[in-house]
Amino acid sequence: MNATMSLENIKHYPVMLNQVLSIISPQHGGTFIDCTFGGGGYSQAILKFSGTKVFAIDRDKLAQKYADLLLKKFPKRFNFFQEKFSNLDKLTEQKLNPKAIIFDLGLSSFQLSDKKRGFSFKSDKFLNMEMGINEYSAYNTINTLDKEYLAKIIKILGEEKDGKIIANKIARYRDKKPIQTSAELALIINKAKKNYGNYKKNPATKTFQAIRIFVNKELTELILGLIEAAKLLSNGGILAVVSFHSLEDKIVKNFFSLYSKQRKNPSRYLPIEENKNNLFNFFLKKPIIADVKEIRSNVRSRSAKLRYAIRNDNTFFYPSEFKNKFVNYLKLEEGNLW
Ligand SMILES: C[S@@+](CC[C@H](N)C(=O)[O-])C[C@H]1O[C@@H](n2cnc3c(N)ncnc32)[C@H](O)[C@@H]1O
Repeated sequence: MNATMSLENIKHYPVMLNQVLSIISPQHGGTFIDCTFGGGGYSQAILKFSGTKVFAIDRDKLAQKYADLLLKKFPKRFNFFQEKFSNLDKLTEQKLNPKAIIFDLGLSSFQLSDKKRGFSFKSDKFLNMEMGINEYSAYNTINTLDKEYLAKIIKILGEEKDGKIIANKIARYRDKKPIQTSAELALIINKAKKNYGNYKKNPATKTFQAIRIFVNKELTELILGLIEAAKLLSNGGILAVVSFHSLEDKIVKNFFSLYSKQRKNPSRYLPIEENKNNLFNFFLKKPIIADVKEIRSNVRSRSAKLRYAIRNDNTFFYPSEFKNKFVNYLKLEEGNLW
Protein backbone atom coordinates (compact mmCIF):
# COMPACT_ATOMS: atom_id res chain seq x y z
CA MET A 1 0.00 0.00 0.00
CA ASN A 2 1.49 3.38 -0.89
CA ALA A 3 1.34 6.45 1.37
CA THR A 4 -1.47 8.20 -0.52
CA MET A 5 -3.64 5.13 -0.49
CA SER A 6 -3.22 4.63 3.22
CA LEU A 7 -4.01 8.31 3.84
CA GLU A 8 -7.22 8.11 1.86
CA ASN A 9 -8.37 5.10 3.84
CA ILE A 10 -8.69 7.16 7.01
CA LYS A 11 -12.14 8.71 7.38
CA HIS A 12 -12.12 12.42 8.04
CA TYR A 13 -15.21 14.38 9.06
CA PRO A 14 -14.98 18.17 8.97
CA VAL A 15 -16.47 19.28 12.30
CA MET A 16 -19.63 21.47 12.23
CA LEU A 17 -19.25 22.02 8.50
CA ASN A 18 -22.90 23.04 7.93
CA GLN A 19 -22.85 25.56 10.75
CA VAL A 20 -19.57 27.06 9.47
CA LEU A 21 -20.96 27.31 5.92
CA SER A 22 -24.15 29.00 7.08
CA ILE A 23 -22.07 31.65 8.87
CA ILE A 24 -19.63 32.37 6.02
CA SER A 25 -22.16 31.85 3.15
CA PRO A 26 -19.85 30.86 0.27
CA GLN A 27 -22.85 30.53 -2.08
CA HIS A 28 -22.57 34.30 -2.62
CA GLY A 29 -18.91 34.01 -3.69
CA GLY A 30 -15.84 35.77 -2.28
CA THR A 31 -12.34 35.02 -1.00
CA PHE A 32 -11.92 32.78 2.03
CA ILE A 33 -8.88 31.96 4.14
CA ASP A 34 -8.82 28.47 5.63
CA CYS A 35 -6.10 28.71 8.29
CA THR A 36 -6.21 25.01 9.21
CA PHE A 37 -6.54 23.12 5.93
CA GLY A 38 -6.02 19.58 7.36
CA GLY A 39 -7.75 17.14 5.02
CA GLY A 40 -9.33 20.06 3.15
CA GLY A 41 -12.93 19.43 4.26
CA TYR A 42 -13.82 23.11 4.68
CA SER A 43 -11.84 24.32 1.65
CA GLN A 44 -13.43 21.76 -0.62
CA ALA A 45 -16.95 22.60 0.56
CA ILE A 46 -16.31 26.32 -0.12
CA LEU A 47 -14.79 25.69 -3.55
CA LYS A 48 -17.94 23.84 -4.64
CA PHE A 49 -19.43 27.31 -5.15
CA SER A 50 -18.08 28.72 -8.38
CA GLY A 51 -17.68 32.34 -7.26
CA THR A 52 -15.23 31.49 -4.48
CA LYS A 53 -11.47 31.57 -4.00
CA VAL A 54 -9.66 29.84 -1.15
CA PHE A 55 -6.26 30.57 0.39
CA ALA A 56 -5.44 27.61 2.62
CA ILE A 57 -2.71 27.20 5.22
CA ASP A 58 -1.45 24.25 7.21
CA ARG A 59 1.83 23.82 9.09
CA ASP A 60 1.86 20.09 8.38
CA LYS A 61 3.59 19.05 5.18
CA LEU A 62 1.31 16.02 4.98
CA ALA A 63 -1.57 18.40 4.21
CA GLN A 64 0.13 19.17 0.88
CA LYS A 65 -1.09 15.79 -0.46
CA TYR A 66 -4.70 16.83 0.06
CA ALA A 67 -4.01 20.32 -1.18
CA ASP A 68 -2.58 18.87 -4.42
CA LEU A 69 -5.92 17.17 -5.11
CA LEU A 70 -7.72 20.51 -4.82
CA LEU A 71 -5.03 22.35 -6.79
CA LYS A 72 -5.62 19.95 -9.65
CA LYS A 73 -9.37 20.46 -9.51
CA PHE A 74 -9.42 24.22 -8.93
CA PRO A 75 -6.09 25.59 -10.24
CA LYS A 76 -7.36 29.15 -10.56
CA ARG A 77 -9.34 29.39 -7.33
CA PHE A 78 -7.19 27.57 -4.80
CA ASN A 79 -3.80 28.30 -3.19
CA PHE A 80 -2.04 26.35 -0.47
CA PHE A 81 0.81 27.41 1.83
CA GLN A 82 2.66 25.18 4.26
CA GLU A 83 3.04 27.74 7.04
CA LYS A 84 1.97 28.53 10.56
CA PHE A 85 -1.11 30.72 10.74
CA SER A 86 0.69 33.18 13.03
CA ASN A 87 2.49 34.14 9.79
CA LEU A 88 -0.71 34.94 7.96
CA ASP A 89 0.54 38.41 7.10
CA LYS A 90 3.57 37.02 5.26
CA LEU A 91 1.39 35.03 2.88
CA THR A 92 -1.11 37.63 1.99
CA GLU A 93 0.75 40.77 1.02
CA GLN A 94 -1.86 41.90 -1.47
CA LYS A 95 -5.15 43.31 -0.22
CA LEU A 96 -7.21 40.15 -0.34
CA ASN A 97 -10.28 41.56 1.33
CA PRO A 98 -11.37 38.11 2.58
CA LYS A 99 -15.01 37.50 3.23
CA ALA A 100 -14.12 35.14 6.05
CA ILE A 101 -11.13 33.69 7.87
CA ILE A 102 -11.66 30.29 9.46
CA PHE A 103 -9.75 28.36 12.12
CA ASP A 104 -10.56 24.73 12.98
CA LEU A 105 -8.04 24.14 15.73
CA GLY A 106 -6.18 21.08 16.95
CA LEU A 107 -5.27 17.88 15.18
CA SER A 108 -6.71 16.28 12.06
CA SER A 109 -7.79 12.63 12.08
CA PHE A 110 -4.79 11.90 9.84
CA GLN A 111 -2.35 13.28 12.38
CA LEU A 112 -4.04 11.52 15.28
CA SER A 113 -4.16 8.12 13.66
CA ASP A 114 -0.63 8.18 12.21
CA LYS A 115 1.35 6.26 14.82
CA LYS A 116 4.65 7.69 13.59
CA ARG A 117 3.53 11.14 14.79
CA GLY A 118 3.28 9.95 18.40
CA PHE A 119 0.03 11.74 19.26
CA SER A 120 -1.75 8.60 20.39
CA PHE A 121 -1.24 6.74 23.67
CA LYS A 122 -0.74 3.52 21.77
CA SER A 123 2.06 4.72 19.54
CA ASP A 124 5.19 2.64 19.96
CA LYS A 125 7.06 4.93 17.58
CA PHE A 126 9.25 7.95 18.34
CA LEU A 127 7.79 10.41 20.87
CA ASN A 128 7.28 13.19 18.38
CA MET A 129 3.94 15.12 18.59
CA GLU A 130 5.08 17.72 16.06
CA MET A 131 2.41 19.23 13.81
CA GLY A 132 5.08 20.69 11.52
CA ILE A 133 7.58 23.61 11.52
CA ASN A 134 8.64 22.96 15.14
CA GLU A 135 11.70 23.85 17.17
CA TYR A 136 11.63 20.76 19.37
CA SER A 137 9.76 17.47 19.77
CA ALA A 138 7.95 15.83 22.67
CA TYR A 139 11.05 13.64 23.07
CA ASN A 140 13.23 16.71 23.77
CA THR A 141 10.62 18.17 26.09
CA ILE A 142 10.03 15.04 28.14
CA ASN A 143 13.66 13.99 28.40
CA THR A 144 15.49 17.25 28.91
CA LEU A 145 13.15 19.86 30.32
CA ASP A 146 13.72 20.97 33.90
CA LYS A 147 11.42 19.01 36.24
CA GLU A 148 9.75 22.10 37.74
CA TYR A 149 9.10 23.56 34.29
CA LEU A 150 7.63 20.27 33.13
CA ALA A 151 5.29 20.22 36.14
CA LYS A 152 4.16 23.76 35.29
CA ILE A 153 3.44 22.85 31.68
CA ILE A 154 1.42 19.79 32.69
CA LYS A 155 -0.53 21.74 35.29
CA ILE A 156 -1.26 24.86 33.25
CA LEU A 157 -1.47 23.63 29.66
CA GLY A 158 -3.10 20.31 30.58
CA GLU A 159 -5.16 21.66 33.48
CA GLU A 160 -3.87 18.56 35.29
CA LYS A 161 -3.92 18.90 39.07
CA ASP A 162 -1.31 16.14 39.49
CA GLY A 163 1.28 17.97 37.37
CA LYS A 164 3.97 17.81 40.03
CA ILE A 165 3.49 14.09 40.79
CA ILE A 166 3.58 13.23 37.08
CA ALA A 167 6.67 15.37 36.42
CA ASN A 168 8.46 13.69 39.37
CA LYS A 169 7.62 10.26 38.02
CA ILE A 170 8.86 11.21 34.54
CA ALA A 171 12.10 12.60 36.00
CA ARG A 172 12.75 9.37 37.93
CA TYR A 173 12.26 7.26 34.80
CA ARG A 174 14.40 9.37 32.52
CA ASP A 175 17.28 9.30 35.01
CA LYS A 176 17.61 5.61 34.13
CA LYS A 177 16.99 5.78 30.39
CA PRO A 178 15.39 8.20 27.90
CA ILE A 179 11.63 7.86 27.39
CA GLN A 180 11.38 6.89 23.72
CA THR A 181 7.74 6.33 22.76
CA SER A 182 4.28 7.73 23.47
CA ALA A 183 3.10 4.34 24.76
CA GLU A 184 5.98 4.34 27.26
CA LEU A 185 5.11 7.87 28.39
CA ALA A 186 1.40 7.01 28.75
CA LEU A 187 2.29 4.06 30.98
CA ILE A 188 4.51 6.20 33.22
CA ILE A 189 1.73 8.80 33.60
CA ASN A 190 -0.86 6.11 34.30
CA LYS A 191 1.30 4.79 37.12
CA ALA A 192 1.61 8.28 38.58
CA LYS A 193 -2.18 8.70 38.75
CA LYS A 194 -4.04 7.20 41.70
CA ASN A 195 -6.68 4.56 40.84
CA TYR A 196 -5.83 4.89 37.18
CA GLY A 197 -8.09 2.00 36.26
CA ASN A 198 -11.17 4.02 37.27
CA TYR A 199 -10.88 6.83 34.71
CA LYS A 200 -13.35 7.12 31.80
CA LYS A 201 -10.66 8.60 29.56
CA ASN A 202 -7.02 7.52 29.52
CA PRO A 203 -5.48 9.14 32.64
CA ALA A 204 -2.67 10.43 30.42
CA THR A 205 -5.09 12.55 28.33
CA LYS A 206 -4.42 15.86 30.07
CA THR A 207 -0.65 15.43 30.16
CA PHE A 208 -0.57 14.49 26.46
CA GLN A 209 -2.63 17.60 25.71
CA ALA A 210 -0.16 19.73 27.68
CA ILE A 211 2.92 18.32 25.93
CA ARG A 212 1.33 18.62 22.51
CA ILE A 213 0.30 22.24 23.15
CA PHE A 214 3.81 23.09 24.37
CA VAL A 215 5.65 21.36 21.50
CA ASN A 216 3.50 23.17 18.94
CA LYS A 217 3.19 26.46 20.89
CA GLU A 218 -0.50 26.17 20.18
CA LEU A 219 -1.73 28.97 22.44
CA THR A 220 0.86 31.42 21.14
CA GLU A 221 -0.17 30.46 17.61
CA LEU A 222 -3.83 31.05 18.42
CA ILE A 223 -3.25 34.42 20.11
CA LEU A 224 -1.09 35.70 17.24
CA GLY A 225 -3.29 34.09 14.57
CA LEU A 226 -6.42 35.84 15.84
CA ILE A 227 -4.63 39.18 15.87
CA GLU A 228 -3.35 38.70 12.30
CA ALA A 229 -6.81 37.67 11.13
CA ALA A 230 -8.45 40.75 12.65
CA LYS A 231 -5.79 42.87 10.92
CA LEU A 232 -6.54 41.32 7.54
CA LEU A 233 -10.32 41.53 7.68
CA SER A 234 -12.17 44.62 6.58
CA ASN A 235 -15.66 45.86 7.36
CA GLY A 236 -18.16 42.95 7.31
CA GLY A 237 -15.45 40.25 7.21
CA ILE A 238 -16.13 37.22 9.38
CA LEU A 239 -13.74 35.55 11.80
CA ALA A 240 -14.90 32.02 12.70
CA VAL A 241 -13.11 29.68 15.09
CA VAL A 242 -13.80 26.08 16.09
CA SER A 243 -11.99 25.16 19.31
CA PHE A 244 -11.71 21.87 21.17
CA HIS A 245 -10.64 22.55 24.73
CA SER A 246 -11.24 25.13 27.41
CA LEU A 247 -7.92 27.00 27.05
CA GLU A 248 -8.53 27.61 23.35
CA ASP A 249 -12.12 28.63 23.92
CA LYS A 250 -11.14 31.01 26.72
CA ILE A 251 -8.70 32.79 24.39
CA VAL A 252 -11.21 33.08 21.53
CA LYS A 253 -14.04 34.22 23.79
CA ASN A 254 -11.85 36.85 25.44
CA PHE A 255 -10.60 38.20 22.14
CA PHE A 256 -14.12 38.64 20.81
CA SER A 257 -15.59 40.06 23.97
CA LEU A 258 -12.70 42.47 24.63
CA TYR A 259 -12.93 43.91 21.11
CA SER A 260 -16.61 43.74 20.25
CA LYS A 261 -19.03 46.66 20.36
CA GLN A 262 -21.03 44.82 23.00
CA ARG A 263 -18.26 45.55 25.48
CA LYS A 264 -19.22 48.15 28.01
CA ASN A 265 -17.84 51.62 27.36
CA PRO A 266 -14.47 51.80 29.18
CA SER A 267 -15.44 55.22 30.53
CA ARG A 268 -18.89 56.65 31.08
CA TYR A 269 -17.46 60.06 30.16
CA LEU A 270 -16.56 58.85 26.68
CA PRO A 271 -19.40 59.27 24.17
CA ILE A 272 -20.27 55.88 22.59
CA GLU A 273 -19.78 57.14 19.02
CA GLU A 274 -16.20 58.16 19.78
CA ASN A 275 -15.36 54.77 21.17
CA LYS A 276 -13.08 53.27 18.52
CA ASN A 277 -11.76 50.77 20.99
CA ASN A 278 -13.23 47.75 19.21
CA LEU A 279 -12.75 45.68 16.10
CA PHE A 280 -15.96 43.67 15.83
CA ASN A 281 -19.62 44.62 15.54
CA PHE A 282 -21.21 41.48 16.61
CA PHE A 283 -20.32 38.51 18.74
CA LEU A 284 -22.55 35.71 20.03
CA LYS A 285 -21.81 35.22 23.73
CA LYS A 286 -22.83 31.56 23.67
CA PRO A 287 -20.80 29.22 21.46
CA ILE A 288 -22.46 27.07 18.80
CA ILE A 289 -22.08 23.35 19.48
CA ALA A 290 -22.53 20.23 17.35
CA ASP A 291 -25.95 18.60 17.19
CA VAL A 292 -26.70 15.15 18.56
CA LYS A 293 -26.62 13.54 15.11
CA GLU A 294 -23.11 14.82 14.42
CA ILE A 295 -21.86 13.86 17.86
CA ARG A 296 -23.17 10.34 17.29
CA SER A 297 -21.31 9.97 13.99
CA ASN A 298 -18.15 11.85 14.99
CA VAL A 299 -17.24 11.72 18.66
CA ARG A 300 -14.57 14.43 18.18
CA SER A 301 -17.32 17.00 17.57
CA ARG A 302 -18.58 16.51 21.14
CA SER A 303 -16.10 19.01 22.55
CA ALA A 304 -16.18 21.45 19.60
CA LYS A 305 -17.22 25.07 20.16
CA LEU A 306 -17.80 27.43 17.27
CA ARG A 307 -17.56 31.17 17.81
CA TYR A 308 -17.56 33.95 15.27
CA ALA A 309 -17.44 37.72 15.11
CA ILE A 310 -17.95 40.29 12.35
CA ARG A 311 -15.30 42.93 11.73
CA ASN A 312 -16.39 46.55 11.81
CA ASP A 313 -14.90 49.51 9.93
CA ASN A 314 -12.64 50.75 12.75
CA THR A 315 -8.99 51.03 11.74
CA PHE A 316 -6.98 48.12 13.10
CA PHE A 317 -5.08 48.82 16.31
CA TYR A 318 -2.81 46.36 18.11
CA PRO A 319 -4.92 44.54 20.75
CA SER A 320 -2.39 44.84 23.58
CA GLU A 321 -4.92 44.26 26.34
CA PHE A 322 -5.71 40.82 24.88
CA LYS A 323 -2.04 39.89 24.48
CA ASN A 324 -1.23 41.05 28.00
CA LYS A 325 -4.09 39.06 29.44
CA PHE A 326 -2.52 35.83 28.16
CA VAL A 327 1.12 36.77 28.57
CA ASN A 328 1.64 33.84 30.97
CA TYR A 329 0.80 31.34 28.23
CA LEU A 330 3.12 33.14 25.82
CA LYS A 331 5.97 33.07 28.34
CA LEU A 332 5.37 29.45 29.27
CA GLU A 333 5.43 28.35 25.62
CA GLU A 334 8.54 30.41 24.90
CA GLY A 335 10.43 27.86 26.93
CA ASN A 336 13.92 29.18 26.15
CA LEU A 337 15.14 25.74 27.02
CA TRP A 338 17.80 24.67 24.64
C1 LIG B 1 -8.75 19.89 12.92
S1 LIG B 1 -7.64 19.93 11.62
C2 LIG B 1 -8.51 20.80 10.36
C3 LIG B 1 -9.45 19.97 9.56
C4 LIG B 1 -10.05 20.72 8.40
N1 LIG B 1 -10.94 21.77 8.80
C5 LIG B 1 -10.77 19.78 7.47
O1 LIG B 1 -11.98 19.97 7.28
O2 LIG B 1 -10.15 18.86 6.94
C6 LIG B 1 -6.47 21.11 12.13
C7 LIG B 1 -5.31 21.33 11.17
O3 LIG B 1 -4.73 22.57 11.54
C8 LIG B 1 -3.35 22.49 11.42
N2 LIG B 1 -2.77 23.49 12.33
C9 LIG B 1 -2.83 23.50 13.67
N3 LIG B 1 -2.19 24.57 14.16
C10 LIG B 1 -1.74 25.27 13.09
C11 LIG B 1 -1.00 26.49 12.96
N4 LIG B 1 -0.61 27.18 14.01
N5 LIG B 1 -0.72 26.92 11.71
C12 LIG B 1 -1.12 26.21 10.62
N6 LIG B 1 -1.80 25.05 10.70
C13 LIG B 1 -2.11 24.58 11.92
C14 LIG B 1 -3.01 21.07 11.81
O4 LIG B 1 -1.77 20.69 11.25
C15 LIG B 1 -4.21 20.30 11.25
O5 LIG B 1 -3.92 19.79 9.98
